[in-house]
Amino acid sequence: MHQIIERLEEKRAAARLGGGEIRIAKQHQKGKLTARERIELFLDPGSFEEWDMFVEHRCVDFGMEGQKIPGDGVVTGYGTVNGRLVFVFSQDFTVFGGALSQAHADKICKVMDHAMRVGAPVIGLNDSGGARIQEGVDSLAGYADVFQRNVMASGVIPQISMIMGPCAGGAVYSPAITDFIFMVQDSSYMFVTGPEVVKTVTHEAVTAEELGGALTHSGRSGVSDLAFENDVAALLMLRRFVNFLPANNREKPPLWPCEDPTDRMEPSLDTLVPDDPNKPYDIKELIQKIVDEGDFFELQPSFAGNIITGFGRMQGSTVGIVANQPMVLAGCLDIDSSRKAARFVRFCDAFNIPLVTLVDVPGFLPGTSQEYGAIIKHGAKLLYAYAEATVPKVTLITRKAYGGAYDVMSSKHLRGDVNLAWPSAEIAVMGPKGAVEIIFRADSGDAAKIAARTEEYRSKFANPFVAGARGFIDDVIMPHATRKRICRSLAMLRDKQLDNPWRKHGNIPL
Ligand code: HXC
Repeated sequence: MHQIIERLEEKRAAARLGGGEIRIAKQHQKGKLTARERIELFLDPGSFEEWDMFVEHRCVDFGMEGQKIPGDGVVTGYGTVNGRLVFVFSQDFTVFGGALSQAHADKICKVMDHAMRVGAPVIGLNDSGGARIQEGVDSLAGYADVFQRNVMASGVIPQISMIMGPCAGGAVYSPAITDFIFMVQDSSYMFVTGPEVVKTVTHEAVTAEELGGALTHSGRSGVSDLAFENDVAALLMLRRFVNFLPANNREKPPLWPCEDPTDRMEPSLDTLVPDDPNKPYDIKELIQKIVDEGDFFELQPSFAGNIITGFGRMQGSTVGIVANQPMVLAGCLDIDSSRKAARFVRFCDAFNIPLVTLVDVPGFLPGTSQEYGAIIKHGAKLLYAYAEATVPKVTLITRKAYGGAYDVMSSKHLRGDVNLAWPSAEIAVMGPKGAVEIIFRADSGDAAKIAARTEEYRSKFANPFVAGARGFIDDVIMPHATRKRICRSLAMLRDKQLDNPWRKHGNIPL
């Protein structure tokens, strides 16, 4: 017995040491924490239950039979974040560069399977050189086992990837399937083929950072939802993020104590929308003033800024907020903003998170780059996502709601539950100038006539009352009462029941 305990301690010590002091020091020199340090920071103190510390790879090629490190390059198990259960795997770059062997993949699959059984999120802390080269196809098989589970878990339990080191080749596709990808600046990158291959094939000279660093993916490609300055900031924000999410698709979002009165008035909102309809204003001010304690967790802030997405709480419970941002491209919808919002809406719908949509949209962005880039298909994604969503949907039109974009942005016609408007709302097929140019083309040479027609159009449509008369808008509300009115609507909708017809799955325009 004594011997076994000694052996146990030896094995535990070896596992804890990972690739050894020198490699740990190297990891620290790069400004990165080790796999275990990351877990410690992320989970509640003392809550981590580790599994499979003694797992070793089974490779006997290239001298690997003599190189075995207990745990095989990934630390796995479960613990709590603010008392709520999560499963976690954290790749250890100090062990074979965190490369994925079949045994390493099996460990990840085990936590995913358990997370599915008990209904809790899976959080991956990725730091890996990819497929374990010495294992060949066994490693590829391991990746595919993980991919398959990612797909089966999609929409059942939240899956989050925090990229904290390299993530290259086919390895990027596991994070890509998960619900959220976060990255750490200067130490993480993601690409399908690295800079050397790019150079050979396309003759482009590009650094790893330019090709797939955190700023590239959070600003340019939209692959990443957020970039953090360093490991510590990333893991602390991840804790905050997890607080917004339900544990699985059968649960409602968690309820947190809330001191912020639901009937709090915000007089400053009465002057948020400028008199000049072409002047922008910051929709984030509205978001911050209506959510509990001004606490808004924005996703993809540096990508497609013409639409804002993120989580807040109202009456202590999570809401997903989608808002057109008049400060960027006048808040119009384009390819990137449609993709960004569609994916967010689908996440919220899958996980019972009510949607609050704030509308100020002049329409879809015109132009060849949009048409050639398939705005038709991408715009349809957002339309599809809203139309399919059965969670409570509360919509507020603050100013413009023109054309197809009016329909798309959670309108009454797409089963919006409560559709409100401010007195400044303008709901029409298009803005007055464009409309008059088309329907009164014969008068185009007569400036006075055009001005009169424009005024006539403006007074008829630049208000919420035509839509109100049809019942497409449930009420016109004063801006200062917005929080109260949305909170009441959400309370009324708490037990909403709505099912879509049975089908194997829909066919969203991908
Ligand atoms: C086995 C690996 C490895 C790998 C790194 N190592 N990647 N071992 N398989 N894929 C080992 C190194 O031998 C080294 O071991 C240690 O990890 C650290 O690596 P370094 O190169 O010293 O570190 P660094 O300079 O920081 O460079 C990191 C790196 C580089 C950029 C990730 O190691 C690299 O390019 N690795 C290969 C990446 C790759 O091509 N992977 C396959 C991608 S394709 P020692 O003992 O010296 O410390 C893929 C397909 C997936 O993944 C398909 C899914 C369908």
